[in-house]
Amino acid sequence: MNNKKVAIIGAGNVGSTLAYTLASKEICSHIVLKDIKQNLVKAMALDISQAANAAKSATIVTAAEDGSDLKNCDVVVITAGLPRLPGMSRNDLLLTNAKIISEVILEIKEYTPNSIIVVVSNPLDAMVYTALKVSDFPRSQIVGMAGILDSARMSHFILEKLGYGAGQIESSVMGGHGDDMVPLTNFSTVAGLALTEVLSDEDIADIVEKTKNGGAQIVKYLEKGSAYYAPAHATSLMVEAILNNKKEIYPCAVMLEGEYGYSDVVSGVPVMLGANGVEKVIELSLNERQKELFAKSVSSVQELIDGLNENKFFEN
Ligand code: NAI
Ligand code: 2OP
Repeated sequence: MNNKKVAIIGAGNVGSTLAYTLASKEICSHIVLKDIKQNLVKAMALDISQAANAAKSATIVTAAEDGSDLKNCDVVVITAGLPRLPGMSRNDLLLTNAKIISEVILEIKEYTPNSIIVVVSNPLDAMVYTALKVSDFPRSQIVGMAGILDSARMSHFILEKLGYGAGQIESSVMGGHGDDMVPLTNFSTVAGLALTEVLSDEDIADIVEKTKNGGAQIVKYLEKGSAYYAPAHATSLMVEAILNNKKEIYPCAVMLEGEYGYSDVVSGVPVMLGANGVEKVIELSLNERQKELFAKSVSSVQELIDGLNENKFFEN
């Protein structure tokens, strides 16, 4: 068992499911849950700690009373904020969640300034941008979860279409976590085979559309709230890669500093995750169509950042 501490800010659906996943797999020695809802956070800490004991996991789970309980974290995951409701786009959450992220990041800066921060709250790319601007941390220290989730959704839709290949599908999605995300069909495979070897062009186009709509599909069925099992599992992979310095490559939201021709904007691209957070940003060779789609996705995120600037969000 390592001696690692993870804080999860926001003990709602994603945060509590993430805590349960990390504790069940004994990925760290201590998980601190924090939420503005004190009874909720206490209930979740007790229930998940008891689940860990049932699983014979040595991970300790506690509820934070205040910011000082965040001291000496290796990783802090931010899932605080409002979730998406039916009829709402991720962007509708912009100003409300930006305010929450700002409060949370300042508390992290005060109590655990050296931790690596994984942002989950939506609209994801703009929240990573907000966290970076408000904290003034280097880009390696703050990374957003979305690409792993969107890629898992793409794998699900490939499997649904194929009816075989479960566990052998590798999907790749880049761009912002929004309607303009860019599923990369030519970087996606089934047991190493190109999608075009096993699926028609029509089927592949359908998979791309379903992937983009994957989050909204669940929101529609749930009626209040959004997906949490797949988001939590995707986030656990990032936390594990960072804590164990695994140097694994995942699609994650990062500040671009010239990569793909963009700067001062956040988007989802393949990165290498290790003990120092984002240790490398990988530039794929995109074809002309993919470059166009990525440009559209980046400009959607830029519009949100412009929205924050128009509201003078970063001027205090
Ligand atoms: P939820 O409503 O179940 O949980 C959010 C929790 O944040 C609530 O318990 C609330 O009390 C808490 N909270 C609000 N302000 C806080 C603050 N200042 N400090 C601490 N806690 C605070 O929502 P859920 O489903 O867990 O989603 C959380 C966020 O993650 C949402 O913004 C959602 O849109 C986003 N999300 C992002 C995904 C991605 O791929 N990046 C996937 C799924 C969800
Ligand atoms: C999702 O994709 C709402 O971003 C959330 O499920």
